[in-house]
Amino acid sequence: MRDLLLRAPDDFHVHFRSGPGMGEYVRRTSAFFDRALPMPNTLPPLADPETLAAYAEKVRAAAPGLDLVLSIKLFPGMSADTVRACARAGARVGKYYPAGATTHSRDGIPTPREIRDALEALEETGMVLSVHGEDPEAPVLERERAFLPVLRGLLADHPRLRVVLEHLSTREAAEFVLAGPDRLGATVTAHHLSFTTDDLAGGALRPHLFCKPVLQDRTHRDALRKAVLSCDRVFFGSDSAPHPRGLKESGEAPAGVYAAPVALPLLAAVFEEEEALDRLEAFVSFRGARFYGLPPNRGRIRLTREPWTVPEEMDGAVPAAAGSTLAWNVERV
Ligand code: NCD
Ligand code: ZN
Repeated sequence: MRDLLLRAPDDFHVHFRSGPGMGEYVRRTSAFFDRALPMPNTLPPLADPETLAAYAEKVRAAAPGLDLVLSIKLFPGMSADTVRACARAGARVGKYYPAGATTHSRDGIPTPREIRDALEALEETGMVLSVHGEDPEAPVLERERAFLPVLRGLLADHPRLRVVLEHLSTREAAEFVLAGPDRLGATVTAHHLSFTTDDLAGGALRPHLFCKPVLQDRTHRDALRKAVLSCDRVFFGSDSAPHPRGLKESGEAPAGVYAAPVALPLLAAVFEEEEALDRLEAFVSFRGARFYGLPPNRGRIRLTREPWTVPEEMDGAVPAAAGSTLAWNVERV
């Protein structure tokens, strides 16, 4: 199998964090991606123009070549004026975290009613609503399915709002997106396309594969693959979410997979298995840009058939697939 030359990809869902490690995480992404959408669930959260601008400056200092699509975290009661001010400061995305659904979301949104003004301001400014689609009240493997009615309501109540359902994990969510309107997009991670609940907990418990939404079984993984291969509105977001190794290996591992260092090689293996390597570039480099109304990146990367072993630790965290040998590697051209 020959090498693959691709337009430099976008990562439309990545966690760069704020404290120590941030520079390394940013550079790990900028090694192969030309553009990234950093998520706003930092400490402190990105939810006002000043914090957002200071954060963007730090990320740019770590990787001047990386283009950013800035996001803010929506809060209950957030005013339309705050959203407008963030839009003027460069925010293009407002993130909806259901209260308690994932890392740093205890202060999230109980119901969409709580952010009606903010949603109207997103619609008015042309910002995209990015949704963590899980209902934390439902049993853990049911949470994404349980959230779909809320999403249906959001789309109906805000007919001009552009929405991205993040990190699809189930067949039902994939079908929802496939049947949805043009203004509904979705991201899919490399780990949800590669691994299942059995990789996470079928033998030994692998905390480094624990994320929200939790990995599902093969039926779901295969439905995600189908969506990724067939739908123009489904694009790549790594959901790379590093946590320090010690915390992930404690008795209470937080959710999040450090995916950035291995995402592209994992995706190449998935697309190869599906005999669809010719569709990888659309998924990682074109569709998301089109959805967000951005031009494709100008850089190039090359995926090479060169086996390599993923280090046990990178940047103080343990990457997905640590210790295993991957068939594909990636380099800048
Ligand atoms: C993410 C994190 O750690 O910030 N965790 C995760 O499991 N995906 C948050 C998120 O995107 O849910
Ligand atoms: Zn995330």
